[in-house]
Amino acid sequence: MWNTWRKVNEGMIVLGIESTAHTFGVGVVQEGKNWLIADERSKYVPKEGGIHPKEASQHFMIHAPRVIAKAVKKLKGGINDVDAIAVALGPGLGPCLRVGATLARGLAAYFNKPLIPVNHAVAHVEIGRFITGLRKPLIVYLSGGNTLIAAYADGRYRVFGETLDIALGNFMDVFAREAGLGPPYVIDGKHVLDKCADEGEKFISELPYVVKGQDISLSGLLTAALRLLKSGEVRLEDLCYSVREIAYSSVIEVAERGLALTRLGEVMLVGGVGASEALRTKFSLMAQDRGVKFAAVPPKYAVDNGVMIALTGMLAFKHGMVVRPEEAYVKQRWRLDEVEVPWLKD
Ligand SMILES: Nc1ncnc2c1ncn2[C@@H]1O[C@H](COP(=O)(O)OP(=O)(O)O)[C@@H](O)[C@H]1O
Ligand SMILES: [Mg+2]
Repeated sequence: MWNTWRKVNEGMIVLGIESTAHTFGVGVVQEGKNWLIADERSKYVPKEGGIHPKEASQHFMIHAPRVIAKAVKKLKGGINDVDAIAVALGPGLGPCLRVGATLARGLAAYFNKPLIPVNHAVAHVEIGRFITGLRKPLIVYLSGGNTLIAAYADGRYRVFGETLDIALGNFMDVFAREAGLGPPYVIDGKHVLDKCADEGEKFISELPYVVKGQDISLSGLLTAALRLLKSGEVRLEDLCYSVREIAYSSVIEVAERGLALTRLGEVMLVGGVGASEALRTKFSLMAQDRGVKFAAVPPKYAVDNGVMIALTGMLAFKHGMVVRPEEAYVKQRWRLDEVEVPWLKD
């Protein structure tokens, strides 16, 4: 039986593959103190515009062999040392997901290793919990494709709020692109919108701020901001500043209400946009105000990486969550709240 493949041993080692969007990453983790063995990545950066799924997947196909080889080289016994192969099967872009899934299936089948299906969103949460040490926090997951407020309840992470249209990271990248600030959208660890906003002085109050219940909406803000930009009536820096304040504040508002509703005493920020210093500062102030604990995953692990897939794979493997290679289908729209997280039951 696949789910009784092998007794999980003490120093269990899991190799994880991430390929859901812009980063092909391979992480190797081991149970115990020296948990991090390898963290190799190759990032696809579009020459212009947003991510072209086909181009990204071609980048992955070219660079994947080298990235995998570099990670495996960190193991004394090579791939033989690995107890299981974990792979992010979704959510993400189809062509990108298929590269990781195909390689993981191949490795698992050829080297006779159990294959662990991992949900990318769950992985962002798990690396956050692992590094921050928070156990059951209110989760704020902000990335290019996701804007979610969630919390654990009854076997799963339940979604308390989300964006009704575009994700915060996507919103920031599109605005930056239209304003001629990127790509690249992140320079020296700082989003170009944050850089531009720091130079702003005047808050433009006519821009829309939209929070509906526990959800936010950013598309109206984007349209209004781009219209103002094209009119030439405002300073770009003031527009960046206003747009950022509105977008970040709407997320803070739903997070704060999430804390009030759930009565949780901890809030955790994960996902690529969680790397923003300005946003972290706002979260930290809100948490102080409410008297709750706040922690964010460090920027290096806020963005997509293979380590989070390996870590989550390890938790899943311990709970017998294994898939046959021929059944490891990619799921482009695999939601956070569709996945059982039995490791939080204990
Ligand atoms: N330092 C940063 N500050 C603000 N946003 C950031 C920063 N670094 C990355 N981002 C944003 O995070 C998003 C990517 O998030 P990530 O979790 O890596 O990918 P995905 O959305 O594919 O899961 C992009 O929109 C990017 O602009
Ligand atoms: Mg991500």
